[in-house]
Amino acid sequence: MKRCEDLADQNMSNSQLPPHGRNWKKVKAEIKSVQKDDAPWYSERMFIGGSYFGGEEVVKVANEAYQMYINYNGLYATKVFPSLVRYERDIVGTLLGMMNAPNCASGSITTGGTESLIMAVKTAHAWAHDHRSGATEPEILIPHAAHPAFDKTAHLMGIKAVRMPQSDGFRADVEAMGRAINANTIMLAASAPSYPFGVTDPIPEIAALSEKHGLWLHVDACHGGFIFPFARKLGYSIPDYDFAVPGVTSISVDVHKLGYANKGVSTLLLRDANLETYQRYTFDAWPSGTYSTQNLMGSRSGGGLASAWAVLNYLGEEGYLERVGEILDTRERFLAGIRRIDGLEIWGEPQAYLIAFGSNVFDIFAVDEGMAERGWMGSRLQDPPAIHLFLDLSHSAIVDEYLHDLAEVVRVVKSGEIQSREKGASYSR
Ligand SMILES: Cc1ncc(COP(=O)(O)O)c(C=O)c1O
Repeated sequence: MKRCEDLADQNMSNSQLPPHGRNWKKVKAEIKSVQKDDAPWYSERMFIGGSYFGGEEVVKVANEAYQMYINYNGLYATKVFPSLVRYERDIVGTLLGMMNAPNCASGSITTGGTESLIMAVKTAHAWAHDHRSGATEPEILIPHAAHPAFDKTAHLMGIKAVRMPQSDGFRADVEAMGRAINANTIMLAASAPSYPFGVTDPIPEIAALSEKHGLWLHVDACHGGFIFPFARKLGYSIPDYDFAVPGVTSISVDVHKLGYANKGVSTLLLRDANLETYQRYTFDAWPSGTYSTQNLMGSRSGGGLASAWAVLNYLGEEGYLERVGEILDTRERFLAGIRRIDGLEIWGEPQAYLIAFGSNVFDIFAVDEGMAERGWMGSRLQDPPAIHLFLDLSHSAIVDEYLHDLAEVVRVVKSGEIQSREKGASYSR
């Protein structure tokens, strides 16, 4: 624990409103000056930042639609903004189609992948109350490479999160999952694909476990949802991961990733619309009457939803096919180039646009630092150590330049001229 005086030194406490309002021009000038320290929101030299560039025209469409709804509060959509209700229905319907859902499926919009995972666990937990009555101390089984939002939710809800060990190929270890199932297990998690390695878990095998033991299976397709359906149409071999696999109960797909909506749009899809009763929270013992929502969040801008609807319609299947084709082509060029550099290895078989590569021979973090000195902003994995790239449309232009620098930096690292100063990796800090 830090002393109060030390915390005050961080300059976070007890600041004050300016006594009088300031001229907007000056405020804006200050914003621009402070903003100078930020990285750009996307760049062909950046592989971090969580923003996905789909082309200038797409950005313009998304931003214009967002602007039209920036002040609308999505919480009150069903009461006063029927257009937002229509956008939600259209987007969810489209995604259910893309995920091969049966006719009785349903879904809802959330503000992001994290909220979709929170609601998936919450829904599974309420469902387990009726269907897994032996689970007195509920547990969920989470593959090693799945997103920490599963654990965060378990923490919030007082559920036990059981992280499974790393396995061959960086996919979920189905045998270990099978061994870990017990009377308290309520849910299995899987990724299509995982963020660290871009590799999809063996979902048919995990689904067989969920069917055998009567468990909820959530597939986190936050990344794959807008890649895999199009990749298949382009002839890429994509493992089974969606509602076509019996035993998959729910799927999350982020529209604000490779769907190119502005931030604040993901979906939670349910195989059976009847399950929605476990998702919804309703309360009316207060003066304002019925409070009933499917989401965690309350007030939120309608902008994200409008931008999602606009971009889906602007691009259509053809626009997504074009972009996915270009990104996967870029990925293949990166993979081939990285494999040509002696001592580098790709961790797993990436199926989307996420790549992790490391080395059993030299210090990959030294390579990362050497690349950073040349202006390449990648991120890292810690287990196993790796440089982590996520690709969007902006990267097709720089593959050769990146690979040239990478080969050069590897040569320098091998010669012992640079060693890493920083060990370890960080996802969000
Ligand atoms: C696999 C996966 N699931 C869920 C999330 C959470 O998404 P968000 O950052 O939109 O909350 C992420 C974020 O990158 C992710 O990689």
